[in-house]
Amino acid sequence: MNIATHAFDALMDITARPPVVFVRGEGSFLWDHNGKRYLDFVQGWAVNCLGHSPPIVAEALASQAKLLLTPSPAFFNAPSLELAKALTDCSCFDQVFFANSGAEANEGAIKLARKFGALHRNGAYEIVTFEGGFHGRTLATMSASGKKAFEPLFEPKVAGFPKAQLNDLASVERAINGKTVAVMLEPIQGEAGVWPATEQFLRDLRELTSARGLLLILDEIQTGMGRTGKVFYYEHAEIEPDIMTLGKGIGGGVPLAALLATKAASCFEHGDQGGTFNGNPLMCAAGAAVLQHVVSPTFLKSVADNGLYLEGELQRISARHGLGEVRGRGLLLALDLKMPIAGSIVTQAFEDGVLLNAPRPDTLRFMPALTVTRQEIAAMIDSLDAVLAKIGVARRVA
Ligand SMILES: Cc1ncc(COP(=O)(O)O)c(C=O)c1O
Repeated sequence: MNIATHAFDALMDITARPPVVFVRGEGSFLWDHNGKRYLDFVQGWAVNCLGHSPPIVAEALASQAKLLLTPSPAFFNAPSLELAKALTDCSCFDQVFFANSGAEANEGAIKLARKFGALHRNGAYEIVTFEGGFHGRTLATMSASGKKAFEPLFEPKVAGFPKAQLNDLASVERAINGKTVAVMLEPIQGEAGVWPATEQFLRDLRELTSARGLLLILDEIQTGMGRTGKVFYYEHAEIEPDIMTLGKGIGGGVPLAALLATKAASCFEHGDQGGTFNGNPLMCAAGAAVLQHVVSPTFLKSVADNGLYLEGELQRISARHGLGEVRGRGLLLALDLKMPIAGSIVTQAFEDGVLLNAPRPDTLRFMPALTVTRQEIAAMIDSLDAVLAKIGVARRVA
């Protein structure tokens, strides 16, 4: 393929991208238009939970495409019923609304909480969210996010998202008032650099919100679908939220997301929520195939085991190069570099055929396919070790 034939300028320039075109993916690997192979520890930002182009997703899409693409959201279709049933069977929730992106699922969660407030809490509409949180790029989800870079953008913000600090219950209590209807958070703040809420904080939040009659909303768009070794992160803390959102891994690479709610919280009435492609059979067929795979105890154990292996290897690299802590859980981990060299590492690793992600200038984030092998982890670690040596992290200790 001749890269000059690609009209890069016809796409809006919304982010810096390297001048290569990816043409094929398989498992933990991607190939560009020159045939160069890359070991991928980004996986579409934690999207491809079963790796690139997994056969079960390809087959589910192909067979559904031959049967029915879209009858209209005004009619039932079999894959959306099947996936909704499977999601409610494996979670603490009773009902599901399917969306096309994580932001749209979160937008739905915000609307559902406001509806709950209108029906049951005298019109309360405020949702306490967290500094550093990330919930998407629609106007309401940007307002709900606590990302500093969003602050000056697209004013005026959507009102009603007072901020608290992660792992600081007193800050949540201070943010609650008579207009509050819910508390919403990611159990691990991914975009901010992989900062986990402690299990105790999640349990305390559950207790506080229940005591005050507020909804607890978990954004599991990055942590859900097996990423941390449980199907959903809330299982680690042994709590039951009222509302949860899923995205990324739920489609195994295709645009699918979901808003889940308990019976008590699921209060939309006709006309409140909808959309042309919501719950379309093609994406839901992919989601059903992925979920069947992800809920297997053997699969979840391998995620947990490989997560511990990756964590141990990152700690070894950190000690060897005098770097900082390793954070996160399962196969969502970060390495604190203690200095702003993450961008140079990502660039050099790309040259060397390894895809890494830098959510912050001093942090690397690792979110490989949940099917990643020990050999692939070892290969990434060897590459990272070489990159750190190459870019001159001179404080090498051993
Ligand atoms: C926790 C969390 N919530 C929401 C989103 C937004 O999802 P999407 O990009 O599919 O709209 C993301 C995306 O990175 C995310 O990590």
